[in-house]
Amino acid sequence: MIRTAGISENEQPAESSGRAESQGAPSGSPPAPSSTRMPAQPSARSKGKPRVLRDFVSILWLTAAIVAALNSSLMRWDWVLVHMVLLGALSHAVLVWSEYFTGKLTHRAPTDASNRAQDARAILLLVGGALVVWGFPAAHWALVVVGACLVATAVVWHAAHIATRFRGGAGGRFRVVARYYLAAACCLPLGATYGVLLAAEPGDTWRGRLMAAHIAINLFGWIGLTVVGTLLFLWPTVVRSRMAPGAERRTAHALWFLLVGVVAIATGATLGTHWLAFAGTLTYAAGIGVWAVTLGYPLRRKGMRDFAPASIFAGVCWAGIILVWLAVFMALGGWDTVSDHLYQIGFVALWGFALQLLFGALSYLMASAMGGAPSVRRAMDTVFNWGATFRIAVPNLALLAWLAPTPFPGWFAVLGIATLASFVPLMFIGAFAGVHAKQQLRATGSHAGTSTTNLTAAGTSATGPRTNPTGPHTANPNATGSTGGVADGAPGTAPTPPHGIVKGEQ
Ligand code: HEM
Repeated sequence: MIRTAGISENEQPAESSGRAESQGAPSGSPPAPSSTRMPAQPSARSKGKPRVLRDFVSILWLTAAIVAALNSSLMRWDWVLVHMVLLGALSHAVLVWSEYFTGKLTHRAPTDASNRAQDARAILLLVGGALVVWGFPAAHWALVVVGACLVATAVVWHAAHIATRFRGGAGGRFRVVARYYLAAACCLPLGATYGVLLAAEPGDTWRGRLMAAHIAINLFGWIGLTVVGTLLFLWPTVVRSRMAPGAERRTAHALWFLLVGVVAIATGATLGTHWLAFAGTLTYAAGIGVWAVTLGYPLRRKGMRDFAPASIFAGVCWAGIILVWLAVFMALGGWDTVSDHLYQIGFVALWGFALQLLFGALSYLMASAMGGAPSVRRAMDTVFNWGATFRIAVPNLALLAWLAPTPFPGWFAVLGIATLASFVPLMFIGAFAGVHAKQQLRATGSHAGTSTTNLTAAGTSATGPRTNPTGPHTANPNATGSTGGVADGAPGTAPTPPHGIVKGEQ
């Protein structure tokens, strides 16, 4: 049963200013080079302010998707919906959140210049995505090509930025996350190329091969690798527990399986070699198996009590189902039967995986981004946990019913997606509750309860002391010890900057 009330007092983040600074690095963790310990000159201009291109683009895409969903007379409306969410909302979220986490892990606050660069990448992705979503249904192949090039440019630029941030040993034991982000970013241009080829409407056999490769590279590569890398440190914080011992090592090993899996599926599908593509799905599944242990450990310690982890967990389970589905298709299906076997996969990716993952992550991250003080987090968590059991059970059961040969599948789709979409108004109500709690805190002049905990503190191994693994927090922009915010704002929807990710188990 998912808890529907706010989190309890004894689960709140540490209430100390500067507590993080007093914690030393665990033995064996490499000291961060001096350049990474110095806080970058934070952006004063954007401090505490929402940034439209960073914070509202995913909402724009989701709103557009809702409008498109209501207008099923649109050409290829199911494809449009899938790409508005996966290529639009989710890819934008990947871009901004992976940059945000990179800043946290490397202790580098964004500057005005880096914010401008991020905005430029967001524009490229937005315009590129819009051209693709417009071009394919309208049968304007040139628009799809230009759009895909813009999308690929944004992501390659993003990869270069991530690589620069992690340069010189920055990130300490969480450097593995950089490898995941870079590998994911390498996948998208390739996946977009397959998309462009698909948009040229090849014959049935080629369509099947290209589609399987396109799904593997984009879904398992671009989105999947980002999710796996991020959940290494985010999952324990969302569950409010600790990271599994050796989780970074496992996650690093898993990357090889996952990458080889994606490459094998894509190569096998392109060459039309079923066994190779099938072996690729098994290899990818093995990688997920190696990594999944790191999810189980925090869960066993704390269980799943909030909407956020339950929704993320459900999303990951549906990704597993898509993988098995693809494996069965690789083993049994002919390439020319792709329309018969994979036609529902896009919807499952959208409804089961992408939206649940996005909403689960946002309902945790928004509170972290807005909060800092336990009362702010509690106010927002209470809203995000409203009807949590219902909001998890109904979309998932409805999706199962939609997939099964039941009568009225359309009604199940409406029920499931409408329940999921209830997160959108809740997001605004939650943000409002957070702002209100923050104002109350300011009015009482209370600074007590401010969390200064760094993102990486949540990832501290259960076997070691609760310390910052990348070194002392001397450069941590979060460690301000005040309710006034930090140097950087969090992407997504929160109008105020974050205090870092909530610490795990106290
Ligand atoms: C520039 C980027 C992209 C282009 C040009 C593109 C284009 C296409 C095209 C033309 C199809 C085949 C439609 C058909 O023949 O029925 C397709 C299918 C698909 N694409 Fe993409 N795509 C892009 C990005 C993405 C991304 C980023 C994802 C996921 C993260 C994705 C996921 C899918 C899925 C799941 C399908 C199969 C289901 C469906 O057709 O709705 N695509 N894409």
